[in-house]
Amino acid sequence: MTKDHSQILKLSPFFQIEKLRINDQDYIKKTPILMHEPQINQRLIEMIVHEFEILQMLQNQKVSPNDFFAKSIGLDGYALILEYLNGMNLKTRIKQGIINKPKISQSIISAIINLHQQNIAHLDLSPSNIMIVGDQAKLIDFANAIILNERHQRIAVPHKIFYSHPSTWDSCFEFEQTQESQYNALELLKRDHFALGLILYELWMGQRFFDISMQEVYLARSHPQQWEMLKIQALSKLQTCHINKICPKNKTIDQSALIEIIDRLIQPSNINLNEVLEFFEQVPNLGL
Ligand SMILES: Nc1ncnc2c1ncn2[C@@H]1O[C@H](COP(=O)(O)OP(=O)(O)O)[C@@H](O)[C@H]1O
Ligand SMILES: [Mg+2]
Repeated sequence: MTKDHSQILKLSPFFQIEKLRINDQDYIKKTPILMHEPQINQRLIEMIVHEFEILQMLQNQKVSPNDFFAKSIGLDGYALILEYLNGMNLKTRIKQGIINKPKISQSIISAIINLHQQNIAHLDLSPSNIMIVGDQAKLIDFANAIILNERHQRIAVPHKIFYSHPSTWDSCFEFEQTQESQYNALELLKRDHFALGLILYELWMGQRFFDISMQEVYLARSHPQQWEMLKIQALSKLQTCHINKICPKNKTIDQSALIEIIDRLIQPSNINLNEVLEFFEQVPNLGL
């Protein structure tokens, strides 16, 4: 293989994301940014290998006719090589304005249902970990994913706390894993449901559910009533916002039903994602 061209797309504190062009084909290379602390470096390399293994597992199971994840090509030393998805992440797509919200909602929900059917919880769902190719969602960034039928002593805490419940925020300001003794599968699936609720909110509203500062995050973490207040504020904003205004007559979404669905996703009680999918399948695909 001859490397023709390479372009750095993102340089986070932990990983460098590079677009490679090799033999007229585009790839993504995800490389840990190695630091002075050997412990952190060890953990970053473990995350890359873990992500590779999860993706390999999904590929081997040939899970769905149109794959809901970015395929792995292989490991290059400590770097993960992925198929390049020719689209943009949901965060950017929301900023640019989304044309077909019902279709994209359906695709995100289907992707998560598919993943859960493979007994995998993603645990770091957020708009920047969902790629949108056309109107199709593909999940990326499986570094925190967990295989549900295995016993887990430790679980990584995602850095993007804005998409997880305050009760799971403990120690998320450190690059560490929690020491909880074990997790049940349903509890882990509910973490993905919670993130999905916040993602759907952002997709339909065009703004984040938690539009708050780090200070408020700390407050909500130690005062559950503060979190309840933030939640009520966010949902009432959705109630009064005119998401139907650019929509042709008779092609509207039931805004109260949307709020109820989001509210149920972020509740501790369980919800069947097929029910959520059915709701968005009834929403007309035009004009939103
Ligand atoms: N397979 C891919 N195709 C195209 N872009 C990608 C791909 N994987 C990642 N990206 C881009 O790189 C960003 C970061 O990738 P991600 O795997 O989430 O790394 P990080 O762990 O640093 O968040 C994504 O938000 C997306 O914009
Ligand atoms: Mg990411």
